Amino acid sequence: MTTSPAPRNRRGLRTQLRADAAAIEAARERAEALRLEILEHDRRYYEQAQPTIGDSQYDALVRELRDLETAYPELATPESPTQRVSGRPAEGFAVVEHREPMLSLGNVFGRDELMAWYQRLVRLTERDNIAFVCEPKIDGLAIALVYRDGQFVQGATRGDGQRGENITPNLETIRSLPKRVTAAKGSPLPAAFEVRGEVYLSKAEFARLNAQRAEAGEQLYMNPRNTAAGSLRQLDASITASRHLDLFAYQLGWADGDRPATTHAEAIAWLGGLGFPTNPLARRFESIEEVATFCEGWAEKRDALDYEIDGVVVKVDDFGLQRDLGVVGREPRWAVAWKFPAEQAVTRLREIQVSVGRTGVLTPFAALEPVFVGGANVSMATLHNFDHVRTLDVREGDDVIVQRAGDVIPQVVGPVLASRAGREAELREFVMPEACPVCHAPVEHDEGEAAYYCSNPDCPVRIARSLEHYTSRGALDIEGFGEERCAMLVRLGFVQSLADLYALPGQREALLAIEGLGEKTLDALFAHLEASKRQPLHRLLIGLGIRHVGTETARALAMHFGTLDALRSATLDDLQAVDGIGPVVAQAVFTWFQDQRHLALLGRLVAAGVRTDEDVSARGGILDGLTIIVTGSLGRWSRNEVEQLIKSLGGKVGASPSKKTSFVVAGEGGGGKREKADALGVEIIDEAAFIERLRERGWGDR
Ligand code: IVH
Repeated sequence: MTTSPAPRNRRGLRTQLRADAAAIEAARERAEALRLEILEHDRRYYEQAQPTIGDSQYDALVRELRDLETAYPELATPESPTQRVSGRPAEGFAVVEHREPMLSLGNVFGRDELMAWYQRLVRLTERDNIAFVCEPKIDGLAIALVYRDGQFVQGATRGDGQRGENITPNLETIRSLPKRVTAAKGSPLPAAFEVRGEVYLSKAEFARLNAQRAEAGEQLYMNPRNTAAGSLRQLDASITASRHLDLFAYQLGWADGDRPATTHAEAIAWLGGLGFPTNPLARRFESIEEVATFCEGWAEKRDALDYEIDGVVVKVDDFGLQRDLGVVGREPRWAVAWKFPAEQAVTRLREIQVSVGRTGVLTPFAALEPVFVGGANVSMATLHNFDHVRTLDVREGDDVIVQRAGDVIPQVVGPVLASRAGREAELREFVMPEACPVCHAPVEHDEGEAAYYCSNPDCPVRIARSLEHYTSRGALDIEGFGEERCAMLVRLGFVQSLADLYALPGQREALLAIEGLGEKTLDALFAHLEASKRQPLHRLLIGLGIRHVGTETARALAMHFGTLDALRSATLDDLQAVDGIGPVVAQAVFTWFQDQRHLALLGRLVAAGVRTDEDVSARGGILDGLTIIVTGSLGRWSRNEVEQLIKSLGGKVGASPSKKTSFVVAGEGGGGKREKADALGVEIIDEAAFIERLRERGWGDR
């Protein structure tokens, strides 16, 4: 859309009004079409679990609509999907912070892996008489339910494990979920506690819903899990209610006051006594052999159940042992999922295609005749890399075995050799591409590496992908640059390097000629671009797409060096000295900064006004999680100064020694606290040792 010049006479004014009215009409039509399209995609995603477009395409539709509504506020309606969040990304529901993280589980496939897991437990606990509880692993959705004074007060999804969505009204529609519980005799109810479990849709309910839909001529739901997920995340709880979801409680979460159990089996029995549905198939075993036999048995019998399971969860029964074993990363050491083998199906491999990524790496993938496997329609599957294609020896035209488990990307397992007979002429052996499928530049390959690369740093796909990455939420977070817009800007020659991004405002007139880019849209884009210049250094580092530099590494580098200049002039040794950075990453960063093209890019970004430093007041961190007490009079600093220092480095200053105190820094005097710390067995160190400890953690060398 272009703006009309100021009218010179009445006739001109009329013409312009007509033109404006036509523009508004066109915008209204487009907005209406977008709304319908978005709603349809929501329906496919949530209700049918059959999305037909990817997230970025979906986002582009929503963005286009939002842009139109910003440009023509009169078009915005309260029913617009931009107002009423469909919940597709986790918006629309209030956020619930889980008091204790909701963990995931490590996997084992088969007896040998289970035994290896067990051996580690034996080593760590120095015990060989560990009891386990085995439960079917329900293929549904994890939820956390909070009860206060016996009343169900809040229910949330798992979300990212730290934060989920508040879906209390939806959970209230589940009949088997107790709304109120009362204490059993001899076992008082904690004032507040949390119960974790899995919400699922039974196979019978799934069949009933689909029969209903078939009758109404509607498209069928794909699988019970996705239908359950879609049903739970409805903003309208009456829809949830119509889906008849079910629940199994499988864990007692936190409890205020005394825990009503010392083992998992007791906790589950206690929950059952309160009226929570618990799985009747759960069993306690005192030997790992029995555990393995139980797991193997269910792989055979899973189809007989009225709900879908994708494995068996094996948990150490004793809470004390659970505590001792603890958690690594996001997985407890005390539990593991015995996963059933992935579901497989046979289909025709139409073609082996090659995609080009941001770094130029070429990835082969299989274009398949669509097939239903592992609860989804699959028409593409990964082939990982070219060595893998060779090892599998799959040919275009082959019948191939495809497998898919849970949310993982479908894989090609291999060809069905028996079905080649008589069809040899239809089969085409895969030939390594010698040229990039997009820009036709020669393909490069490092000896000993499985990856092949497009050798052209200016390959349009690489630039478009880099642009997508640079503008993405985790990097510079520049709204308005979805997959398609990035590709378009590169295709039309507006962007040939990341730095061209900041030159876009200078090309306003040319950009206005592009469909979908109106004045208001550009205003918004340019405002976001401008704002991105103020992002801290670590985001810039993420955006540059340096090999091996993800969020954590970028943060570590930015915090350590503080400025781009300092990082650029760092030696390999300097880089390796950064906490959490190993030789491979250090080398990758070092090499990146040796490349003249990269330096030129940085030069242009800096000239465009991009910020190149980090907010180091948040640097602290080295005392994160520590509670330190300072007592007595110190030599180098006043007590107050030390306390300020501790806080500025992320530590907490305690008032009086307790079991939670990490250590006490004691100077002359300070008798009372010193004695108390001593009695509690809390470590006491002097000022010099404290400074030494700070140095060890990297203080002072920044
Ligand atoms: S225990 C630390 N028990 O599996 C313990 N999880 O991969 C974590 N699940 O998010 C969960 N049935 O959604 C546990 N009987 C069961 C389960 C179960 C299904 C799911 C749950 C969790 C995922 C872990």
